[in-house]
Amino acid sequence: MKIAIVGTGYVGLVSGACFAEVGIDVTCVDIDFRKIDNLKNGIIPIYEPGLDDLVSRNVKEGRLHFTTDLTSCLDDVEVVFSAVGTPPDEDGSADLRYVKEVARTFGRNINKYTILVTKSTVPVGTAAKIKNIINEELNARGVDVPYEVASNPEFLKEGAAIKDFMSPDRVVIGIESDRARKVMERLYRPFLLNNFRVIFMDIASAEMTKYAANSMLATRISFMNDIANLCELVGADVNMVRKGIGTDARIGNKFLYAGCGYGGSCFPKDVKALISTGRENGYRMRIIEAVEEVNDAQKSIVLRKLKNTLGTLKDKQIAIWGLAFKPETDDMREAPSLVVIEGLLKEGAEVTVYDPVSMDECRRRLGDSVKYARDMYEAVIDTDAIALMTEWKQFRVPSWSIIKRVMRGNTVIDGRNIYDPAELAEEGFEYHCIGK
Ligand code: UDX
Repeated sequence: MKIAIVGTGYVGLVSGACFAEVGIDVTCVDIDFRKIDNLKNGIIPIYEPGLDDLVSRNVKEGRLHFTTDLTSCLDDVEVVFSAVGTPPDEDGSADLRYVKEVARTFGRNINKYTILVTKSTVPVGTAAKIKNIINEELNARGVDVPYEVASNPEFLKEGAAIKDFMSPDRVVIGIESDRARKVMERLYRPFLLNNFRVIFMDIASAEMTKYAANSMLATRISFMNDIANLCELVGADVNMVRKGIGTDARIGNKFLYAGCGYGGSCFPKDVKALISTGRENGYRMRIIEAVEEVNDAQKSIVLRKLKNTLGTLKDKQIAIWGLAFKPETDDMREAPSLVVIEGLLKEGAEVTVYDPVSMDECRRRLGDSVKYARDMYEAVIDTDAIALMTEWKQFRVPSWSIIKRVMRGNTVIDGRNIYDPAELAEEGFEYHCIGK
């Protein structure tokens, strides 16, 4: 079976490599020449554990190809996946420029029955727009080539993307015919060995499922952050509350960790887009609006705690441990660390940062406005406070006695609740976490 995947970003590249791994012939397409050249030479544009090996192995075995020209493979493939970006517009709605461009190229060039599957997260109703564009192009050519559109939203998590793709909880596919269903079933059959379910549904429901899933997860986080903030005021401990409620099977124990807010490329964007879809349809998504509001405030909670503890931030030296929006990725999109660093600089503090993989990304974003340490210990030399923003494994059991010796002050603000308050107190630190 041969397929093409347009867009070699996170979703496209991981999906392409994983489909190739189970024996499907995959051509990954991207308009970015440099990216494609790099990929042909085994240079991966993103940090994702295991992806380098997966890509190079499948390229070597001749199942994974890269090109800048979708038309070059259209006659050979049964399915074209569209995994291009849908960045938020100024008003928060998803910008469909690239999705539409793929539809146009598809309509201009197909010569036989092909399915265009949207993997990008797109608002409900996008499939209909895509069909209009393809029909326009087919009419302009004066031909009547059979085709179908489908929706196959992606649920993979950065840092665990390969595992998520190879053994997903479920695969959601929106289709319009039995013919398309059979093709999609064949494509995903290799993964069925892992006992997961393919859930077929209509296209609008599949499009909605993605937004509902991400918004539900974001809701859990904002809900717990709200509870955490109240815990602090009433003398409760959010970690105990989390354990207490997480054992209720109806609630479940996942995604209940309070912290310094969610970031990344999905939650903030999808939450905004769902609010905007509601607005376009004359409905106010009140819960999701609140989820966003709580998260926006939570992203600066570490900053507020630093200020409360240190009195003023002016001329204070602050070490930031962790820059990525979560561990196992170099992604800093919408990361809470950015909000904290910006606030610190504005208040006249000096900031030294350290992250195991996001240092280059940080340099690109913040340039010389902060200092870059070579490791987590160098970052804390002569600082007044440490702010932990990302719960990387290597931050979990630091040598506090060394840190105490080289720091100027003794404040530790733990934005991810990974340290033991009793231990830190014993070592002589002024320790503050979230929700306790
Ligand atoms: C998410 C979804 O999980 C995935 O299904 C979807 O396809 C894309 O969006 P991702 O953005 O990679 O994946 O990260 P995820 O692991 O879900 O974490 C998102 C954010 O929530 C991170 O900033 C993380 O720190 C935060 N988070 C997560 C919490 O603050 N508390 C939690 O309990 C869980």
